[in-house]
Amino acid sequence: MSVLKATALGKLYSSKGNVVFKALEDIDLEINPGEFVGVMGPSGSGKTTLLNLLATIDRPTSGTVQINGVNPVKLNPAQLALFRRRELGFVFQDYNLLDTLTIKENIILPLVLGGVRPAEIGKALEPLVELLQIDGILGKRTYEVSGGQKQRAAIARAIIHKPSLLLADELTGNLDSKAAKDVMDALKDMNEQYNATILMVTHDPFSASYCQRIVFIKDGRLFSEIRRGSNRQTFFQQILDALSVLGGNFDDVPFARP
Ligand SMILES: Nc1ncnc2c1ncn2[C@@H]1O[C@H](COP(=O)(O)OP(=O)(O)OP(=O)(O)O)[C@@H](O)[C@H]1O
Ligand SMILES: [Mg+2]
Repeated sequence: MSVLKATALGKLYSSKGNVVFKALEDIDLEINPGEFVGVMGPSGSGKTTLLNLLATIDRPTSGTVQINGVNPVKLNPAQLALFRRRELGFVFQDYNLLDTLTIKENIILPLVLGGVRPAEIGKALEPLVELLQIDGILGKRTYEVSGGQKQRAAIARAIIHKPSLLLADELTGNLDSKAAKDVMDALKDMNEQYNATILMVTHDPFSASYCQRIVFIKDGRLFSEIRRGSNRQTFFQQILDALSVLGGNFDDVPFARP
């Protein structure tokens, strides 16, 4: 069974009963366990809208989303909150870590809130600390660590409860190229060694080149899809080519990055 199945997904934004904008139309997307998928598209093409629908933060106006066979629209608010907490993990551009807690306390917070026993928490944390190379910063506060370290901690927090699907929106958007590379290497390890299934929205072709598959959207519709062969360098070039065919506003894309 697929982890995620979106069928004929559409989203109309409306105000006072009048439709003001058709943000998504007829999106079909299926993600299988263990996949690492990227979503790219020009500014305003509907990427965040799509992510919000898949994250069960917003509801589609047409079509359906299924996560592990469950349609979240059918759940009541309490069930939905629990479903989201168990099945999904989120990583954001601006980390969303709590400044009053240490890095370790931030990472284990979802398990502490879920009433998991300390011994179990320790067992869950250990492999992540090693894979994400955050051993040295566990006792520090958010303002004492770098952006890349913060994002690796945020990945640990998003994944410590072993969600079915990890959703990331522009997770390298605030990072310089060295930190972005470290974060993407970490995310790749999560996918390959921790079996995380990942869907990531990004503007950045370099970050996108870590994905196994990229879907491009334009004006709210699926435009094209490419798959990576064995070589990331080649895939990077294919992504640049696909973006130039796609057109649209990519002013902020660092095309010169290796
Ligand atoms: N609440 C809303 N009401 C009306 N229109 C909206 C609303 N939210 C988004 N839109 C419109 O829907 C379209 C898609 O927006 P969305 O935020 O999904 O784009 P995006 O691909 O994430 O863009 P970016 O790359 O700039 O983040 C845009 O034209 C936007 O103006
Ligand atoms: Mg967006």
